[in-house]
Amino acid sequence: MSRPTHGGNRDWAANLVGCSASEILDFSASINPLGPPKGLWKALEESVKELSHYPDPNYVKLRAALADKHTLSPNWILLGNGVAEILTWAARELSGLTRVNLITPAFADYRRALSAFNANVVACPLDLETGIWHSVEVGKEVGLLLNNPHNPTGMLSTVDEILPILGDYGLVIIDEAFMDFLEEPQSLIPWVEQFPNLVILRSLTKFYSIPGLRLGYAIGHPDRLKLWQQWRDPWPVSTVADIVGRSVIKDHDFQKRSWLWLQSSSPVFFNKLNKIEGFTARKSSVNFFLVHSRLAVPELQEKLLLEHKILIRDCLSFEELGEHYLRVAIRSDQENQYLIRALENHVV
Ligand SMILES: Cc1ncc(COP(=O)(O)O)c(C=O)c1O
Repeated sequence: MSRPTHGGNRDWAANLVGCSASEILDFSASINPLGPPKGLWKALEESVKELSHYPDPNYVKLRAALADKHTLSPNWILLGNGVAEILTWAARELSGLTRVNLITPAFADYRRALSAFNANVVACPLDLETGIWHSVEVGKEVGLLLNNPHNPTGMLSTVDEILPILGDYGLVIIDEAFMDFLEEPQSLIPWVEQFPNLVILRSLTKFYSIPGLRLGYAIGHPDRLKLWQQWRDPWPVSTVADIVGRSVIKDHDFQKRSWLWLQSSSPVFFNKLNKIEGFTARKSSVNFFLVHSRLAVPELQEKLLLEHKILIRDCLSFEELGEHYLRVAIRSDQENQYLIRALENHVV
């Protein structure tokens, strides 16, 4: 099996260790350890009864529930088989522009989607110290693909920082896959009606801990979403994801507990990581840390796997970062502590 370009590939790790995937403690995918919400089980049961029928191709109920959550009309919402699927259609439209400014380091799937349609991608490097990036060229024939909060740095740009640049581009796609982790989000969703060139992508997989289910959505102008819908198959979201999605987004208690957990666990884990010699974690607004390591990460990753069955995320797929960066999810306090001990063992 070749080295994975995404986090969460437990099968690859298990194959290397010679154990089953369930034995791997996965810090490589940034998934909420409190989830999934309890109501998921009942929703799953309900959905099984519906499996002999096709899903509603308009997904009226789930779109209405999401529209309600964001105080929008449902025709501003397009569901997808995870944000990864919607990225394909965003990339198809972006590729029709003369160039696409991509803030780097960037989630690897952006390049997959953009290169599928031969987009002219121009990397706009993010200054890891200041959080500032410069796009060399702007204009109505230029697109922008932005990730906020940013994976893998955990940086958060504020609405005030992003708003002034929206009008500079023909199309702006903002991937807010991790925004649900913030009790006080900096989402651009309230601005979509004013900016018909703006599309926001949201994932349910990380916050609700359902990456295996595949569920995400785009929020944007209804004409654009209708066009994207025509490019793809009629039922991109399964009945199971449709029904479970409606259930999990209603769980406000789960949301509150998750925010509290992150607010208390994040600083503890951050401080412990930074106390280990040779490791420097960056401050993060969300549920993972980008960590600079004096040790080369591919070797460290292998040792952690073989000796502790711990999987960390190397950052080799983020070309700009190279082999001295790793990314770790924030998990339960006990699991975080287990990683800390394992890292301490490997300091030379
Ligand atoms: C920034 C970012 N966007 C999107 C995704 C994909 O999300 P989904 O599971 O909804 O396809 C990921 C997954 O790691 C991600 O890190």
